[in-house]
Amino acid sequence: MRVGVLASGTGTNLQAILDGVHGHDGIEVVAVGSDKPDAPALDRAAHAGVEIAAFTTSDLRDREGRDAAIADWLERREVGLVVLAGYMQLLSPGFVRRFSGRLINVHPALLPSFPGLDAIGQALEHGVKITGVTVHFVDEGVDSGPIILQRPVPVPPDRDREALEATIHATEHVLLPEAIRMIAAGRVAVEPGSRVVRIAPE
Ligand code: GRF
Repeated sequence: MRVGVLASGTGTNLQAILDGVHGHDGIEVVAVGSDKPDAPALDRAAHAGVEIAAFTTSDLRDREGRDAAIADWLERREVGLVVLAGYMQLLSPGFVRRFSGRLINVHPALLPSFPGLDAIGQALEHGVKITGVTVHFVDEGVDSGPIILQRPVPVPPDRDREALEATIHATEHVLLPEAIRMIAAGRVAVEPGSRVVRIAPE
């Protein structure tokens, strides 16, 4: 399975993918794109010998134009799966439709709680005792697509943000590669006519 990754930031999730699944079980990361030309994620990909590209809105006329350029770039590389690993732009409906059923995202909360930006801050502010990580298919809404995997993370009693962030990120680094492995093995399917994702046993 040829995998494309989009990332805007430091790229620790990308690194977990490169270290954990790239080159194993027929999984190859073949393209890493970003909206930020200076994203450390691109350096990590280049270091791993993966092709990279930056797509900025100033290069292209608008978001739809940028997203169409990203989609063309990924399709030319024949990716079977696109992973959003800290990609901080909302993708346009046209992009989501082109990759429907093969576009996934990692989110630092137990969806449908705390979608959108600063999910960890939202959880702390709400006073929940348990939050977590979700890997889900992307649909046209914000963090609203069918849920593939979730893992809970307890909020520390002292509500220390840094400690919670560290545990959530470490959990993401396990869960996202796990979801990619399951998809590559053909074990993940959305039940027809529903939003329920079935995971076949190994
Ligand atoms: C992760 O927490 C991810 O869930 C969120 O953005 C962060 C990206 O971190 N969407 P990194 O760039 O993978 O280190």
